Amino acid sequence: KWKKGSFSSSLEKEIIFLCEVLDFLNYFYYVDSKPLVADGLYDSLFNRLKQIDVENTHKVPAYAPIFRVGSSIVGDRETFKHEVPMISLNNSKELEGVEKFNERVEKSVGKGFSFIGELKLDGVGFSLKYEGGLLTRALSRGDGAIGEDITANVKTIKNVPLKIKTKKSVLVRGEIVIKNSFFKEMNDNRARLGKKIRSNPRNTVAGALRTKDPSHTAKIPLFAFFYDIPIFGEEVLNTHSESMDVLKKMGFYVDSNRVLGSKEQIEEYYKKILKMRSEIDVDCDGVVVKVNEKEYRDVLGSTSHHPRWALALKFPANKTLTEIENIEWQLGRTGILTPVAKLKPIDLGGVKVSNASLHNYSLFKSLNLAPGDTVEVQRAGDVIPQVVGKVVNSGNDFFKYPKVWN
Ligand code: IVH
Repeated sequence: KWKKGSFSSSLEKEIIFLCEVLDFLNYFYYVDSKPLVADGLYDSLFNRLKQIDVENTHKVPAYAPIFRVGSSIVGDRETFKHEVPMISLNNSKELEGVEKFNERVEKSVGKGFSFIGELKLDGVGFSLKYEGGLLTRALSRGDGAIGEDITANVKTIKNVPLKIKTKKSVLVRGEIVIKNSFFKEMNDNRARLGKKIRSNPRNTVAGALRTKDPSHTAKIPLFAFFYDIPIFGEEVLNTHSESMDVLKKMGFYVDSNRVLGSKEQIEEYYKKILKMRSEIDVDCDGVVVKVNEKEYRDVLGSTSHHPRWALALKFPANKTLTEIENIEWQLGRTGILTPVAKLKPIDLGGVKVSNASLHNYSLFKSLNLAPGDTVEVQRAGDVIPQVVGKVVNSGNDFFKYPKVWN
C-alpha cells in the first residue's frame, strides 16, 4: 500500500499510516520477537516519517515512534502520588509459606477459587498511565505512595506502547529488566575500555531510568513486562487471566502464566521454574502466586504493606558475598591460562561453592582482585560460579602473572 509519493495528496494520511505501520511492525519485533519485515524496510519507513517531521514542523503527532527519544534533558524530577498505591508482595522462603497461604485463602473465601502462577523477575517496578489512548505518565515505585516521573526514560523502551487502542483511562503495572546476556556483554566492554563495571542487572536498569538524558537510556536495551491493570476505565476485570488477556490485546508484553488449582500444583510450578531458572535470560528470583478471581481478592484485602491474595515464593539465593582466599592460574585444555578465585566456602542455591571462575580477563583486571577482597559470587544453573563484583576492597595487592614455562 505504501509507495513513495502515493500520499502526496494528503500528508496527514501518510503520517497516520506510517505511525500505524511502524507501531504494528514494532509490536511484532519487540513484543512478540517475530520480526515481520527486513530491518531495511522498517528503517526506510522510519526515515520517511523523520523526513516528514523535518520538512513539516508540528505535523507529526507526539506519540509517533520517531519521538521515543526526546531531545531534551530532564530537569529535576517531579513526583506524583500513585492513584493506586504500589504495595509490595509478601515473601516466602522457597515453598515454606505455601501451606499456610493456601489455608488462609481457603478459610476466607471457601473453595472455588484458583491461583495464577507467574515469574517474579528481578527488575524495577513501574506504573504507566494512558489517557485518550496515549501514554501520559510513567512513575517509578518510589516509596509506594509517591513515585518519580520517569516518562522520558520509559518512552525509549521499545516494547512499551506509546499509544493503545482504547480511549479509556488505563493504569498498568510491570517490571523493567535487562537480559543477563546483554548485561555481561556491556560489562565486558566497560572493562575493556577501563570503565567501572556495573554491579548487577537491576542496578543497571535503575541507573538507566534515573539518568536525566533519555538518549542514554535509549542505548540500553531495557525490556518491560506487565502483570497488572489496576485501572481499566470504569470496567472491572473479573480475573487475573482476563487482565492478562486485555494487556496482551492492548499490545503489552505479558509473560506466560499458569492457572494453578491446588497446593500441589503450586509446588510443581515452583519446582519447574526453579529448574529452568538458568535458561531464563533475565534475573528471576522466584515465582508469584496470586488469587485469580478479583472478587476473592477484594474479600482477602491487603495489609498496609502486602496484599493477602498473593505470595512470592523466593528461590534460594544464587548470589552471595564471600572472601577470596587465593587466586590461582589454571591451564585450560585449549592452552589458555585462566585465573580462578579460591573462596571461603559458601552455599549457593543448595550447592557448596569454593572456586569461582575469573574467565573474563579484562573483567578480572578491572576488578583488581586480590586475596582478602569481599566479592559477590553468582551461580546460574549448572554454569561454573562467577565473581560478578567486588564489594569490599582489602587493599591487598595481587597481580602476579603466572610463571610461564614450556
Ligand atoms: S505483583 C500488589 N507480580 O516484585 C502486588 N510483582 O514486592 C504487586 N515483581 O514491587 C506486585 N514480578 O516490582 C507482581 N509477577 C509479578 C512480579 C512482581 C516482579 C516485583 C514488583 C513488586 C515486587 C514485590
